[in-house]
Amino acid sequence: MAGVKSKKYDIVVIGGLGHVGLPLGIAFANKGLNVCLYDIDPQKAKEVMKGRMPFIEYGAEEVLKKTVGKKLTTSLDMADIAKAKYIIVAIGTPVDEYLSPKLKGFFDLFEKLKTHLDDSQTIIVRSTVYPKVCKQIETFLKKNKLHCKIAYCPERIIQGYSIKELNELPQIVAGLTPAAEKDAIKLFSVLSPKVIPVRIGEAELIKLFANAWRYIMFAVTNQFYMLSTAHGENYDNIRKALMDGYGRAASIPSAGFTAGPCLLKDTMQLASFTSNNFQLGITAMQINEGLPDFIVAQLRQEYDLSKLTVGILGMTFKADIDDIRDSLSYRLRKLLLFNHANVLCSDEFVKDSSFVSKEALLKKSDIIIIGVVHSAYKKLSFPKSKKIVDLWGLTKKS
Ligand SMILES: NC(=O)c1ccc[n+]([C@@H]2O[C@H](COP(=O)([O-])OP(=O)(O)OC[C@H]3O[C@@H](n4cnc5c(N)ncnc54)[C@H](O)[C@@H]3O)[C@@H](O)[C@H]2O)c1
Repeated sequence: MAGVKSKKYDIVVIGGLGHVGLPLGIAFANKGLNVCLYDIDPQKAKEVMKGRMPFIEYGAEEVLKKTVGKKLTTSLDMADIAKAKYIIVAIGTPVDEYLSPKLKGFFDLFEKLKTHLDDSQTIIVRSTVYPKVCKQIETFLKKNKLHCKIAYCPERIIQGYSIKELNELPQIVAGLTPAAEKDAIKLFSVLSPKVIPVRIGEAELIKLFANAWRYIMFAVTNQFYMLSTAHGENYDNIRKALMDGYGRAASIPSAGFTAGPCLLKDTMQLASFTSNNFQLGITAMQINEGLPDFIVAQLRQEYDLSKLTVGILGMTFKADIDDIRDSLSYRLRKLLLFNHANVLCSDEFVKDSSFVSKEALLKKSDIIIIGVVHSAYKKLSFPKSKKIVDLWGLTKKS
């Protein structure tokens, strides 16, 4: 990283205490770079400075403890952004209630940022952005007489496992200018085993396609599940038999709630980009988001839910992490309550005083729905006398 030393920090990560920014900052600090994590969350800053991760990222706390106070620090002061050569932007990029990209927060940030920037800096957009946003940042900065280099280097890790994956995954890199591309390649070569340079428009679409692809793939298996179940057949048996020795179908994932802060949002960004002509993405959204409704409708055919206790085992959006953002288990809970069921929830990682233990849930529920398969559920013995809704095939071990 020659040439970077004239500033106090090699990198400042904006949104540096989030699920993307924090592991990335830790990973760069672990490679010997001076990293400042700038954020607006004082609580998380306090925890991180004590060497504690504010959320689950396997393997991260160990590296955090090793680097914090040495190569890694936090800041709540925007003025620190001026002290870094590289500025990595990793704040959230949500969609609004109409599933359109909500870009205001992103551009408000640049409005505030402009007095802390200078032309020697390189801005790396890490957040997943709506196509052409990088170009809009450049236009905005130029209007303010700023000529920072701008690159887009999307994050493709799987939440919970980023410390491992950041060192393993190839990094897509795109610059708005050759100089920006060169700087981005130089930075990510420190971390990634391979960098793949592409055009900026390609990089923006690669990230959205990556998530839309996964979202659609899960929608296919969820549709197969609903189709099989509606016809009284066991999808898990069907899927396993279909895949057995048949490589062309080997990649069919199990059915399950497909949720979280990225897959739906990014598929909808793509739909919005194509003026809602992304039929596959829109259909995938209807299928995946409709799965809790399907489950409740199926149960209502068999039971009077108002007389029963239904337990949802697993509330996070994904196994073995503590993140509930956009989890479909919560949508399921809402639908069950709407149908006057008594609902119990349990989760290994979520701290919620209204939740019960997994053992209590199995005991007290008439119907058990597995929301997500945390590892701790793999050893549970599910009562044979009770109705179990098991999308994942957890209870039908071959
Ligand atoms: N979570 C993932 O697995 C994942 C994977 C790939 C890409 N992404 C993308 O990365 C981006 C960030 O996602 P995330 O999951 O890390 O979100 P997050 O909510 O966990 O983190 C965002 C962080 O930004 C901070 N923040 C918000 N506004 C700020 C501001 N104005 N200045 C400074 N800090 C600010 C928040 O306090 C928070 O710590 C999104 O675009 C997302 O789509 C996420």
